Amino acid sequence: MDINEKYLVLTGACGGIGSEIASVLAHAGANLILVGRNLSKLKALQLALPRETAHKTLVADLNTDAGIQSVHDRCQQWKTEGLVIHGLINNAGSNQFSRLNQRDAASISEEIHLNLTVPILLSQQAIQWLARPGLILNVGSTFSAIGYPGYTTYCAGKAGLHRFSEALDRELDGTGIRVLYLAPRATDTALNSTTVNELNQHLGNQVDPPKWVAEQLLLSLQQETPVRWLGWPEKLWVRVNQILPSAVAGAIRKQSATIRQFLTKAEVHSSPEVL
Ligand SMILES: NC(=O)c1ccc[n+]([C@@H]2O[C@H](COP(=O)([O-])OP(=O)(O)OC[C@H]3O[C@@H](n4cnc5c(N)ncnc54)[C@H](OP(=O)(O)O)[C@@H]3O)[C@@H](O)[C@H]2O)c1
Repeated sequence: MDINEKYLVLTGACGGIGSEIASVLAHAGANLILVGRNLSKLKALQLALPRETAHKTLVADLNTDAGIQSVHDRCQQWKTEGLVIHGLINNAGSNQFSRLNQRDAASISEEIHLNLTVPILLSQQAIQWLARPGLILNVGSTFSAIGYPGYTTYCAGKAGLHRFSEALDRELDGTGIRVLYLAPRATDTALNSTTVNELNQHLGNQVDPPKWVAEQLLLSLQQETPVRWLGWPEKLWVRVNQILPSAVAGAIRKQSATIRQFLTKAEVHSSPEVL
């Protein structure tokens, strides 16, 4: 899709990857509807974008029913007023690096809700207010295809998002809406705690700059790429895990002691006593 002068809804707009997506897309000519929880952060982002008055802001906590409904109501209202919205980018997401037995039920539910249920609900709404041709792009993760210790519920949520994107794209075949999936690997944002950054360094994992991820997302939109896995050798491991999961399990087993050591550190830092 040519995104020039097209309105696109972007969730998680003020985050590390989201703010770079906003910048890259606005420089490419898109008009953005920036969704986040904090109005002053959204306004500051809007002011920093080229053609600042072309963009809109929308405050919504997407982990609440009211937040989800407000996105729908505003987009329907803008549609009634003649605004043509061509895209939805489901980028808001969160995770916690912790063993499953250290998590409380509420944090598990919230993580699954934000990473999986929220994009499903927003996509369902968007079918009503998106113009044709329209695009929905879901931001997933390498961990949607590779189960990794310490990220059990995040892997589950993102794996669901990957399969959802594939199924909805097939369901909407011929309707003028495409559903795309972009899977970054580790990216340099506040999503990753100091402990996770130390683990990545220790294991020699590459960490991408968020601007590069945003540029890859722009390519996905322009080329309407159904699925894009980012980073080498991660994209190879994704394929190997499909056909030979025991090989990937063996490689992860070699990292187990290190991962456990950093998990313990992360769990101590996030325990209620320390907070
Ligand atoms: N960083 C990585 O290593 C990495 C790797 C692969 C995939 N990803 C994916 O990339 C996406 C962006 O992550 P990031 O690295 O940019 O993380 P980030 O800097 O922590 O930003 C996360 C964004 O999600 C939003 N968000 C969180 N809870 C929300 C809620 N309840 N309602 C509305 N918005 C909420 C935040 O909004 P506020 O601004 O209101 O706080 C923030 O803008 C996520 O889907 C993540 O899973 C990240």
